[in-house]
Amino acid sequence: MLISEKLAKAINQQVGNEFGASLEYVNIASYFESEDMLHFAQVFFDQADEERDHAMKFVRYLLETGAKVAIPAIPEPRSDYASAEDAVAAALSWEETVTEQINGLMDIAHEEKDYIAQDFLNWFVTEQLEEISKMSTILNIIRRAGDNLLLAETYVVDILAQMVAAEGG
Ligand SMILES: [Fe+2]
Ligand SMILES: [Fe+2]
Repeated sequence: MLISEKLAKAINQQVGNEFGASLEYVNIASYFESEDMLHFAQVFFDQADEERDHAMKFVRYLLETGAKVAIPAIPEPRSDYASAEDAVAAALSWEETVTEQINGLMDIAHEEKDYIAQDFLNWFVTEQLEEISKMSTILNIIRRAGDNLLLAETYVVDILAQMVAAEGG
């Protein structure tokens, strides 16, 4: 096995965390769609797909390193949002938590001098920078827009398209 029991256990937990994020983003997207904010809904449905991809990246890593995949129980995601600001603030705070979780995995990889894992986890470190920056931008735009959420939506879609273009993907 190319992975320690400890790291395999922590990564299995992270698979659950990423699927949990995916579920929460489906709830957030659904909140926006039910409020007729269809652009924000799309942003969060896309985000839900991305979190599923993250979970699967960790699953692939466990398989490639010869570890057992055992997805843990996933807590019920939040589904009651008071406002657009509340929903996006929940997403931002979720991303901050995930960043700590990824850092925790990296700590184990460092303790164990597991360079393969460090290389693998680096992708997630960079990804979290993007996720936090994306969510803070959306939150700031919503706060600045006040009641004019329709304007905030079109602006956010525009900004995200530019971010994707800048990333080259
Ligand atoms: Fe993620
Ligand atoms: Fe994320």
